[in-house]
Amino acid sequence: MEKAKKIGILTAGGDCPGLNAALRGVGKTAILKYGMEVVGISSGFLGLLHNDYIPLDEASLSGILTLGGTILGTSREKPFKKNHQLANEKPQLIKENYQKAGFDCIVCIGGNGTMRTASLLAAEGLNIIGIPKTIDNDVWGTDQTFGFDSALYIATESIDRLHSTANSHKRIMVIEVMGHHAGWLALYAGMAGGGDVILIPELEYDINIINNYLKTRAKSGKPYSIVVIAEGIKKPKGMSAATYIAEKIEEGVGIETRKTILGYIQRGGSPTPTDRLLASSFGAYAVDLIAREEYGNMVMKKGENISSLPLKKVGGKLRLVPEHHSLVEKARGLGVCMGTP
Ligand code: F6P
Repeated sequence: MEKAKKIGILTAGGDCPGLNAALRGVGKTAILKYGMEVVGISSGFLGLLHNDYIPLDEASLSGILTLGGTILGTSREKPFKKNHQLANEKPQLIKENYQKAGFDCIVCIGGNGTMRTASLLAAEGLNIIGIPKTIDNDVWGTDQTFGFDSALYIATESIDRLHSTANSHKRIMVIEVMGHHAGWLALYAGMAGGGDVILIPELEYDINIINNYLKTRAKSGKPYSIVVIAEGIKKPKGMSAATYIAEKIEEGVGIETRKTILGYIQRGGSPTPTDRLLASSFGAYAVDLIAREEYGNMVMKKGENISSLPLKKVGGKLRLVPEHHSLVEKARGLGVCMGTP
């Protein structure tokens, strides 16, 4: 009889809602469907460097579907990063520890940075499967990452709440959501929350266009405005996007302007049903790939289908909002100011 496979799982990079649902999806499928052995690796790639493992059985994977964060912990450890002391030793150490632990495969759950590390480990000859997560929804090759829907829900609810206080005080409210490079969250939350101005890193804005738009709104009897921005839009170094834009608007429009930075609230708490389903399905599919020994792949969603693509194709590429994305065009059609002519 063939020996049962032993798989390691880790969560790396910034946390997001749905990580535990994915761990449960991987773990339960591996144990119950295939009789595999499952080992949790602590704190992302750090756990692999330090042989820091948590054995996982079915009982330890029960009751975590709805939990925020990750029961394994996470870190931003990048073993292939060139500018640290052990630059050449870390990948070698990971290879040795992988062999020592007797892993048949490691499932790496993470965003762009993690998929890059995963593809480099696969190129070093380890059996690796990637599962994409991030509230930024910017992993190349998949239509959606889990975490995004939960963050979208939180951001939209926050914008809804800002509407009423903005109206009471006849103020302009600037709300900053996460997204250093990709504006998916700002675009989706801005549209779902009825933002009047939406600024994303992919589209270069002109502050004069924004201020003229807000002045026209005020003159036409609209007493308040909501401005939704991504943290990664152009701004002076060392200043938050919200602080900068709020100052520029107050100065240029002459209406009292307040800012809100949503921050880590977007990454915490229980995943939405959509994220629970996506994370569970990604997890289950990852184990099907392991059972078929289709290593070196990342699980992905295209339309309604879950399938996979080679990690080496994904390797650190970003999925950005295209200039003429249909939602950008729809926003413009609805009279939303995107900060561009
Ligand atoms: O997880 C992605 C992300 O949320 C970005 O949008 C954000 O800029 C970044 O992580 C910040 O995370 P940390 O402070 O944990 O490095």
